[in-house]
Amino acid sequence: MDDRRRIEAALERAVSIAAKGACPPRLAEAVRYAVFPGGARVRPLLCMSIARACGEHLPDVTDAAAASIELLHCASLVHDDLPCFDDADTRRGRPSVHAAYGEPLAVLVGDALIVLAFEHVAATLVDHPQRLPDLIKSIGRAVGMSGGLVAGQAWESEPQIPLAAYHRAKTGALFVAACSAGAASAGHDPARWLDFGLRLGEAYQVADDLRDVTSEATSIGKPVGKDRALDRPSAVRTLGVRAALEHLHKLIDEALVSIPSCAGANELRAEVRNQVRWFVPKDVAQFAA
Ligand code: IPE
Ligand code: IPE
Ligand code: MG
Ligand code: MG
Repeated sequence: MDDRRRIEAALERAVSIAAKGACPPRLAEAVRYAVFPGGARVRPLLCMSIARACGEHLPDVTDAAAASIELLHCASLVHDDLPCFDDADTRRGRPSVHAAYGEPLAVLVGDALIVLAFEHVAATLVDHPQRLPDLIKSIGRAVGMSGGLVAGQAWESEPQIPLAAYHRAKTGALFVAACSAGAASAGHDPARWLDFGLRLGEAYQVADDLRDVTSEATSIGKPVGKDRALDRPSAVRTLGVRAALEHLHKLIDEALVSIPSCAGANELRAEVRNQVRWFVPKDVAQFAA
């Protein structure tokens, strides 16, 4: 099975098990709506690539780690789109969760997905308890208040927002988790993957900042121009389009160089180059004047 199918199957397992029993039907439906169909699935793909590069031998563990990272990402999108954050009515080319199901349920969908991410890893790893502490630590750090997703959103309530800290928390942390969880699921030291994850995650957010200015809403499936409208710091607002693009390429180069030595490092580098090719925005020259 290829990685994309593996991810969809792992997510399906997690979501359908959680929705059984006493789950209110509209909550079950809204959780499914938040997860399927997905977007790029870039974080779980990265998690799987790294597990393979580290000599994966417990695919169930990798699948659970990758699914839990994507569940957390979906949760972050649901919460990020709420009126109290970015107030975005569309996501992945259709109404965002709060637009489709209302705000109270959207808050609960985000909460449910965060809890499910941890529950799913714990439930899958009953036969491999030795892998559990590293995985839970890697994943927990990515969402927490000290440099994780929660910190990323919380920076928006501070009077001064340092751009790099903001980018690293709101996006870099989950990329770090995808990398370290991939390594941990293969029994490797997750700490060695921190630099690579941070740089790639920061690059991904710089690319998103560029798209916010240079893309059409119809092509990216979500509103554009939000960073300026909401007065959010962004690489484009700080550096301008041309320098933001240069910064993006520099971060990608640094990420590629920081891939730690492992059995599949060359294959991984090639896979990352492929991924990067689609997320670097094209045709931005007209905005760079
Ligand atoms: C959107 O992430 C939020 C950012 C951190 C830029 P993605 O661009 O990966 O969203 P999906 O999952 O493909 O919709
Ligand atoms: C991305 O923030 C990080 C999240 C926690 C969702 P953005 O606000 O830049 O992401 P988009 O543009 O809404 O996808
Ligand atoms: Mg947003
Ligand atoms: Mg954005």
